[in-house]
Parts: sequence; structure tokens; C-alpha cells
Amino acid sequence: MRTTVAIVGAGPAGLLLARLLDAEGIESVVLESRDRAHVERRQRAGILEQGTADALRAAGAGARMDREGLRHTGIELRFDRRRHRVDLSALTGGRSVYVHAQTEVCKDLIALRLRTGGPLLFGARALAVEDADTDRPRVRYRHGGRDEVLECSYVAGCDGYWGVSRAAVPPALTRTYERSWPYAWLGILADVPPSHHELVYARHDRGFALLSMRPAGGGTGGAPVSRLYLQVPPGTDAASWGDADIWDELERRVETDGGRRLARGAITAKAVTPMRSYVHEPMRHGRLFLAGDAAHIVPPTGAKGLNLAVGDVVTLARALVAHRDTGDPAGIDAYSADCLRRVWQAEHFSYTMTDLLHRHPDASPFDDRLRRARLDRITGCRAAATDFAEGYTGIPFPRDA
Ligand code: FAD
Ligand code: DHB
Repeated sequence: MRTTVAIVGAGPAGLLLARLLDAEGIESVVLESRDRAHVERRQRAGILEQGTADALRAAGAGARMDREGLRHTGIELRFDRRRHRVDLSALTGGRSVYVHAQTEVCKDLIALRLRTGGPLLFGARALAVEDADTDRPRVRYRHGGRDEVLECSYVAGCDGYWGVSRAAVPPALTRTYERSWPYAWLGILADVPPSHHELVYARHDRGFALLSMRPAGGGTGGAPVSRLYLQVPPGTDAASWGDADIWDELERRVETDGGRRLARGAITAKAVTPMRSYVHEPMRHGRLFLAGDAAHIVPPTGAKGLNLAVGDVVTLARALVAHRDTGDPAGIDAYSADCLRRVWQAEHFSYTMTDLLHRHPDASPFDDRLRRARLDRITGCRAAATDFAEGYTGIPFPRDA
């Protein structure tokens, strides 16, 4: 098979890129190793930055987000048993975020592609990207029990942290930057309306907790359900936490003086997410472009992962379109550096937010006081709050800044 752009991976990065290329009449083939049901059910991110929401709308994939998603103009920080609202919109000239699950974004993009776009092969596992530094790169893959080759003009490596695309960049040209964190998140979905109408990020001596939510979905107009997270030791087995223990621990960590009790309900999903900061440089090698988790990972605090992936593929699609229309390779040549500037801003934001809000097992009392001093600054000083709100609602896409 031959195409213009071989897209490896049908997560948010690969699916949105496919949609953007379809809209511009650029041919592509998407290879996805898992089956459709798996991709559509995988519980992951839930917060879309303003720029991501705008990009989905521009791609014709924003209708359900606008109908069912929840626009949030603020978040709450809790520490020392007190509540502090950060008014994101007031601090950023009207920017906001949307609560809308990654699963729903993927479902809509898959449906659009299958209805109006080029091939999307499920159960097609890429084995290797070859000859990326020539003008005839190719992807070897396995599909339906057979080894196949996809020849193309460009490869978009959108296959996440565990994918194979990154390995096509020669080690001698690669630099990786990494930090692992001494904790993980236990995340649950619970069939109960959220206890607070905005997200609550809580720092507590026993560890971090996050109260989030998911829209009811299906256009039912029903109440949102709860999505909740607890800091736990790395390697924790989700099954080792009983339901009542999870609720008790959440309750302790978000408790405030005179506050309401947490509403409890049936837990419908339970999983542990490891935490990692990782950047692979460069994000381009010849005609191979890495995008999303294939090139960088942020710890989930601050909800940047999905939003970075969207910024990467919007930048890549613009560069490919400009090259086709004008022959000018400037966007292609600048792809890696343009994306990495935004990636490092998000790495920094996610790093500082993670460090501020979690209980570090080796932290000295001095370190903890410093973290509280920073939280006091964010909640007490408009300049610090503005910097935080700008980071939370999203660093502009490359060349939009
Ligand atoms: P992915 O979503 O990982 O998609 C990559 C795709 O490539 C997958 O469908 C995979 O099956 C496919 N693939 C892999 N290898 C191959 C191959 N060899 N051949 C073909 N296909 C392949 N971010 C947040 O902002 N908030 C959160 O709460 C949050 N929670 C998360 C929980 C988990 C468990 C994980 C793993 C991530 C979470 N993230 C979260 C991060 C966010 O979901 C990711 O940043 C986002 O999914 C990145 O999209 P992507 O398309 O780059 O990669
Ligand atoms: C969610 C995840 C995050 O990482 C975050 O910072 C906020 C919300 C969520 O899944 O709802």
C-alpha cells in the first residue's frame, strides 16, 4: 500500500491529524495496533484547554464537546483545610477549560474518519519505521496475521510512549530528558454527582487528591459523574484499595473547616497511572515527525498530555499543508523546535504543579514550608495567580503566540 502520510497510532494525536489532513485533501493511512472498542474505552484525560477546544471545533469535531462538555472558568486549590478559588477566566482575559473525556473525543474522530476519510486500520501493529531520512520512508506492520509494508512520503509517529516510531531516530542524534516521580495516581470513576461544581486540587499531609468529573454523556442532560484521584505509592495495585477505603481517604484529604462531606457512590472503574516527565529531542528526523506521547510525557497534574498532543498535530498539519501549497519547507524544518518550546513550557508547568501539590516521601519540613509559601503566593498575589492561570488554561500553539 502507498499513501502520502502514514500515521502510526489512533490516539488523539493520530486521529486529529488524520482529520486535519482529510479536510485539506491530503491522503493518509492510520495504523492502530488495538481494536476499536479498546481505543474508545480507554479512560484517560478529561480536561481540554481553550486552544484544544478551538482546534476540535475548527476540525469539525467539536459539536458534542459544545453540547455535552462542561465549560469551567475556575478551579479550587485546597490546603491547610482551607479553600481558594482561582478565577481562571478573570485572570486570563476570558480563557477557560472544558471538561470532556478523551474517550469521547476519540469516538467522534473515529466516526468522522470512517464516514468521511481515508483508511483507519485497527489491529494493525507497526513493527518499524524505515528509511525516515530518505524521500521514500516506509512503515512495516502486521495486520490480519500478515506482514505488510506501507510506503509513504511522510510518517507521523503518533504511537504513544510505548510505540516503535521513536526508535527510528538514530541514537547518535537523540537526546532524552527524563524524571520519574516517587508516586502514582489511583483514579476512579464513580456513579455519583460531583461534590463540588469545579475541579478541586488538594494538598494534604497524607498526599494529593483531585476531585474532577465527567459530563453525563449521550446528550442525556443528566448530572455529571465523579472522576477522582488519590496520590498513592508507585507500583500500587488498584485492586488492593477497597471502595470504602478510597472514599475515606478522599474525604480526609479534601476536608475543610465547615465543609460539606463527599457524596459517595458506586465505583465503576479503578486504575493506577504512573507519573513520568520525559522529552525526546528532536521531534523530527527526516520525514518522520513524532507527535504527542511518542515524543513527550508529562505527569498528569495540570492535565497537559492530551493538549500537547493536539498542539503538535495542528502544527504538523499546518506545516504539511504549507509545504504542499507553496513548496516552502520552513514549517517542516521548524516543526521540532516550534513544538519543543511549548512542550518545555508544559513540562515546567506540570512539574511545578506536581511538586507543589504532592507529598514527597523525602521532603524535609523546610521543603514543605516552601511549597506552602508558593501556594500562599498563588492564592494571595494576582501576578502569581495570573502566571498559574495562564499555564493552566494553556500555552498558545506554536506560531499562534
Ligand atoms: P496515545 O493516546 O497513547 O495513543 C497512541 C496510540 O498508538 C494508541 O492507540 C496505541 O494503541 C497506538 N500504538 C502504540 N504502539 C503502536 C504500534 N506499534 N502500532 C500501531 N499503533 C500503536 N492526560 C491528561 O491530561 N489527564 C489525565 O488524566 C491523563 N490520564 C492518563 C492516564 C493514562 C493511563 C495514560 C497512559 C495517560 C494519561 N494522560 C492523561 C495522558 C493523555 O491521555 C495522553 O497524553 C494522550 O493520550 C496522548 O495522546 P497520543 O495520541 O499522543 O497517545
Ligand atoms: C483530570 C485529570 C487531570 O490530570 C487533571 O489535572 C484534572 C482532571 C481528569 O481526568 O478529569
